Amino acid sequence: AGTDLFPGRRNSRGFDLASAEDLALIESARTPHRTALFDARPILAESLAGGQRTEVTDPATGARVGNVLPASLPDVETALHHAVPWEARPEDRAEVLRRAADLYEASFGPIFALLAREAGKTLPDAVGELREAVDFLRYYASEGEALTAPPLGTVVCISPWNFPLAIFTGQIAAALMAGNAVLAKPAEQTPLIAALAVELLHRAGVPVTALQLLPGEGGTVGAALTRDPRVGGVVFTGSTETARAIRQSMAAHLDPAAPLIAETGGLNAMIVDSTALPEQAVRDILASAFQSAGQRCSALRCLYLQEDVAEGVLEMLFGAMDELQAGEPWDLATDLGPVIDAEAQAGIRDWIAAARAEGRVLKELAVPARGTFVGPTVIRVGSIREMDREIFGPVLHVATFRATEIDRVIAEIDATGYGLTFGLHSRIDDRVQALVGRLRVGNIYVNRNQIGAVVGSQPFGGEGLSGTGPKAGGPAYLARLVKRPAPDCAG
Ligand code: NAD
Ligand code: ALA
Repeated sequence: AGTDLFPGRRNSRGFDLASAEDLALIESARTPHRTALFDARPILAESLAGGQRTEVTDPATGARVGNVLPASLPDVETALHHAVPWEARPEDRAEVLRRAADLYEASFGPIFALLAREAGKTLPDAVGELREAVDFLRYYASEGEALTAPPLGTVVCISPWNFPLAIFTGQIAAALMAGNAVLAKPAEQTPLIAALAVELLHRAGVPVTALQLLPGEGGTVGAALTRDPRVGGVVFTGSTETARAIRQSMAAHLDPAAPLIAETGGLNAMIVDSTALPEQAVRDILASAFQSAGQRCSALRCLYLQEDVAEGVLEMLFGAMDELQAGEPWDLATDLGPVIDAEAQAGIRDWIAAARAEGRVLKELAVPARGTFVGPTVIRVGSIREMDREIFGPVLHVATFRATEIDRVIAEIDATGYGLTFGLHSRIDDRVQALVGRLRVGNIYVNRNQIGAVVGSQPFGGEGLSGTGPKAGGPAYLARLVKRPAPDCAG
């Protein structure tokens, strides 16, 4: 006790949502932002031709949250023209990122409000997300202070809507700490929280020419950025399909030395064997599959239950699911918010409807009629092979296996080609060691849930179709964002 294992590297404290004092603090800070309108636009835009101001709406209520002015192609050109790598000394850059972390922490009112209203995040999710963003800022600041290699130049950061603050900030913090100029393209669905983050980073001292925001469509703004030969590297988080398109575009247009860091999707499995503690397994299945309405890349998609305990575990799981409350994310009683938009809702519902038609839906909860909600659902499958894509929502697939079939199960999980997270519930130490050693998966979780990796102590990233590495929030990340030393000819 009292020993500082990682001096200078403490994770953000966050809030204690069981404390009435913390809750009161949050309520008074976020309430003024409950109906305020927010705004996002390209930062240094000279020409706004082509850009059409559009409304951003709350997925739970349809209410307006603000407006976005997407970047036009001339704006992309302006941004590239004005981008200047951040020439400050590494220790000074670190100081600015730490100041930004403090500003983020102090801005929890508007941040929690926007995470609920724009991204449908419940308060526990919003608290976790702010902590992760702050952790990324402080972690990369510490990791980068000793960097001596030159930056890549201009780095494009393209992020998803499901961690619109944490992933957006993590990518930018790393690229900036390495001394690059950053052009940040947030997801179409969440430009407002991105604009707030960029405002805080500028206020902390990041030069405007070193960090510019370019909201807009992936197919236009994102594609224009990733095919511009002035770009020295791309950091992307999103679907495997988009990562493929970006890789092709970079190969055709960019310097072959320009790196692509791509963190992508997963078909994540969990195995629960007959020695697992059912209460613990059920709690962790519930969190892994349904927290954040299943909209985490790390989320559990396919649960393998050993046949002799399957019935008991499922009965307990269905009972626990009955306690889940879907509703408006702002409401403290809500466990499960909406999915991000109507398109996502329709896609997930179609998948569930097909399973229902085949009599494979084992459990389905009702949700509010308005807003883009999807009821937490459990679908029976023979194996993970029946899932030909990542269903990015609160849908859990369940298969069973016999004790003698464990090799088949591992082979099936491997054969998906994805390798992001894997969960295992077992109390047999030898089995745990053997399985953990065999799976080609980025993050493995034993006897706990499989979401919520912590920056600095659980670097996060996948293998195969799930990502290129290096893992985010880990010690190898910054080295990909500086120029590699020239090969040593003498050696
Ligand atoms: P997406 O691929 O549709 O979009 C991600 C980003 O890419 C957005 O900003 C989008 O505008 C942009 N984009 C789209 N087409 C583009 C193109 N042709 N060129 C350049 N940019 C383009 O993904 P999404 O729906 O926003 O996010 C969900 C996906 O992200 C899921 O597959 C999830 O598993 C994955 N994800 C992975 C991680 C991880 O760490 N591995 C974390 C979060 C989310
Ligand atoms: N880092 C996020 C998690 O682990 C994606 O859930």
